Amino acid sequence: MEKLLITGKKELSGRIYISGSKNASLPILASTILSENVKLTNIPLVKDIFTMVELLKFVGLKINIHKKTNRIEIKNTNKNIKTLAPYNLVKTMRAGVLVLGPLLAKYKKAKISLPGGCAIGTRPVNLHLFALKKLGAKIKIKNGYIIAEAKKGLRGSKIFFPSISVGATENAILAAFNSKGKTILYNCAIEPEIQDLINFLNKLGGNIKLAGRKIFITGCRKIKKSVKHEIIFDRIELGTYLVAAALVGKKILFNKIDPTLIKNEINILRKMGVKLRVQKNSLEVLKSNNIKKISISTKPYPGFPTDLQAQFMVLMTRAKGISKIKENIFENRFMHVPELKRMGANIEIKDKTAIISGPSQLTGAEVMATDLRASVSLVLAGLVANNRTIINRIYHLDRGYEFLEKKLKNCKAHIKRF
Ligand code: UD1
Repeated sequence: MEKLLITGKKELSGRIYISGSKNASLPILASTILSENVKLTNIPLVKDIFTMVELLKFVGLKINIHKKTNRIEIKNTNKNIKTLAPYNLVKTMRAGVLVLGPLLAKYKKAKISLPGGCAIGTRPVNLHLFALKKLGAKIKIKNGYIIAEAKKGLRGSKIFFPSISVGATENAILAAFNSKGKTILYNCAIEPEIQDLINFLNKLGGNIKLAGRKIFITGCRKIKKSVKHEIIFDRIELGTYLVAAALVGKKILFNKIDPTLIKNEINILRKMGVKLRVQKNSLEVLKSNNIKKISISTKPYPGFPTDLQAQFMVLMTRAKGISKIKENIFENRFMHVPELKRMGANIEIKDKTAIISGPSQLTGAEVMATDLRASVSLVLAGLVANNRTIINRIYHLDRGYEFLEKKLKNCKAHIKRF
């Protein structure tokens, strides 16, 4: 199994190109079931995307990936579509459940494996099913599968989500887009990735509007046969490298991004004493010596993202005094903490809150990656630690970070896969 070796305390400088968003690409890829011919650009070539492509191929779509240019072309002209998402393809990537809405809306039935729990929590899909039932689907669970049917097709409805879920909002949009009549979704997730999905579906002929936490959808009766779309940049990848720059950067530039999508993170970094130059489509991080303590809580967008919690915790180990992070989204998302402690961090967990006492000089160790964002936090820790850090189980990283070593090496980091 491959590992990463990092020799820490090397100052980074240069430019880091931010890839397309994995979390925007996945629902948009699922939605291609609804069209005939879609061309997507700025797709990140990471494991989760390849898993979704495999799933769509299994369903019966024709897909061409142009690796050199990060483009994907998807054709759905097959008359023999399988309305099935099998266990082996959904268990490794929960976003597989996003094909449920489009399959049900277009083909009136779907059989999708229940994704099950994962390292960061139980992660149920009750809210996805709740929304689809409101749109008229009959759903039962049998032998680990969701068996859904809408013999007469889905009908628009008013749906009030009892709590905010990114995936359930996406599945509901995807299903309502191709139903009869009007749908209003209340208490929705409004992540930029959801806005990107809406932009894509509107290009396909949809009439979808987002206002506050409400989404208004008029069922689309005439779906365009051919559409092109460029995926937005990955704000979580950007946030991750901003922390790397704050930890060991001399001067690092990020261009072709939209800083307004990470306003909250920029404010937090500024409060922590990180020196940033923000322009319309770029960001520059300058050498930042005096990192200050802070307390943050993870929340749905526009709040601070759970997907950046582990990375910001590494920066907090550099701050003088006591910093705190409260994790409100997932119940088991502090698995990086024992590994960071092995590297010398002083962190205590009380209920949902991690209490970080700093500053600590981290020291290299052999550590174990447990999930996507936890593993990248260990990379960040390795960059700022004394000596060498070895990270095991880096297949987690490959699920969501495109060209990680290459991007860091270009900025003079000492990192290699072996
Ligand atoms: C998405 C992101 C993930 C991110 C998360 C929260 C993708 C592919 N993944 O995951 O990177 O960490 O949003 O920002 O975009 N819940 C229920 N019932 C449901 C669905 C969710 O109780 O039916 C709960 C979850 O257990 C969790 C919370 O709602 O506690 C938020 O989860 P959700 O927003 O659905 O996350 P995902 O869409 O799975």
